[in-house]
Amino acid sequence: MLIRDIGRLVIVPPGPLVGAQMREIQTLPNAALLVKDGKIAWFGEQKNAPNAPDDEILSAEGGCVIPGLIDCHTHIPFAGERSDEFVRRVAGESYLSIMQAGGGIRVTTRAVREASEDELVNINLPRLARILRDGVTTVECKSGYGLTVDDELKQLRAIRRLAAMQPIELVPTYLGAHAVPAEFEGDADGFIERIASADVMQRVADERLARFCDVFCDRGALNVDQARRVLERGKAAGLRPKLHADELAQIGASRLAGEVGAVSADHLEQIDDAGIAAMKAAGVVAVALPGTSFFLGIEHCDARRMIEAGLAVAVATDYNPGSCHIESLPFVMSIACCQLRMTPVETLAAVTANAAAAIGEQARIGAIAIGHDADLVVLDTPTLEAWFYSPGRNRVRVVVKAGKVVGDQRV
Ligand code: NIG
Ligand code: FE
Repeated sequence: MLIRDIGRLVIVPPGPLVGAQMREIQTLPNAALLVKDGKIAWFGEQKNAPNAPDDEILSAEGGCVIPGLIDCHTHIPFAGERSDEFVRRVAGESYLSIMQAGGGIRVTTRAVREASEDELVNINLPRLARILRDGVTTVECKSGYGLTVDDELKQLRAIRRLAAMQPIELVPTYLGAHAVPAEFEGDADGFIERIASADVMQRVADERLARFCDVFCDRGALNVDQARRVLERGKAAGLRPKLHADELAQIGASRLAGEVGAVSADHLEQIDDAGIAAMKAAGVVAVALPGTSFFLGIEHCDARRMIEAGLAVAVATDYNPGSCHIESLPFVMSIACCQLRMTPVETLAAVTANAAAAIGEQARIGAIAIGHDADLVVLDTPTLEAWFYSPGRNRVRVVVKAGKVVGDQRV
């Protein structure tokens, strides 16, 4: 396939893009791009494009072409809903106080335990269909609402089935250590022995049910020692560490991310200098989740400070039924741009090259580079900037995954 008539091709290089590299991205006007065997085979000025038969030409009609978007942090698959908590928060209660009063993750855990694997699949399939229409071609998906070994494995199996049923590539993460369930109240260590034993980790890794292991390390969740234990066990089984870090309080979670060599640390509203230094030294990707701070009404993370400090910053939705019931990555990108003051090009780098690095796939996806998977989005705007200038409006026209058109919204 030859994509012609590209108004602007945004040539995002492979990640991780650290600090100022996030804004040093070239765009090429009047461009074309050749796809062969699902990979990007050539791109350049249209006047130099190779010939292609008419039925293999896709016209971008002057639109901008970017890499397929990557949502590198979601809590798909979940069941149930918590709009009551949302309304309580709007009225002034905090996420933490609702959680401590028995709400929060435990409520969703009940719903996920009650759902069969089939039900989990059926509830989450339409979500992925909507997400695809936003130009998202890869989604990281976490367990973490089962909180028994069987229910966690049920969530991971649902992810595997969802991956086979629709075009978005799903990247599974084991988040058994998401919260201490009611039956282990006061015994977080006992819970960890159950949910994050060496045996469980080995089973998850051997059955290829997850590639990463994540922990919610924060006030009201697991402490640094407990999180370290979980992540080291995951690592021993071949699961790469990730962390929910520095969201509600500063307890040293981002420092831990550096110490265990995590692939990413996510949230970071409360990051400190020591956390930044540890993450930089270990090459940990900083994943900002500004939809969550927007939805919770808490202060955003300081993305500018992290970029200026030389970190690779990614942006993701954190899509979940509690702290961020926002499934649209472009909407969250608008928050990053307008409220975190990331420029359009920095924000694009954050959801492509750096999001790929946050799931360890930067050598294959997230860039416009020869040999990379042809995961592409054709926008109806001639420039990237014009896309960001119209928040909340879907400007995605064509979505291409591994060289195949998987979404076509041309009128
Ligand atoms: O990433 N911070 C921890 N976990 C989720 C929230 C999950 C929930 O509230 O259901 C998050 O924000
Ligand atoms: Fe999360």
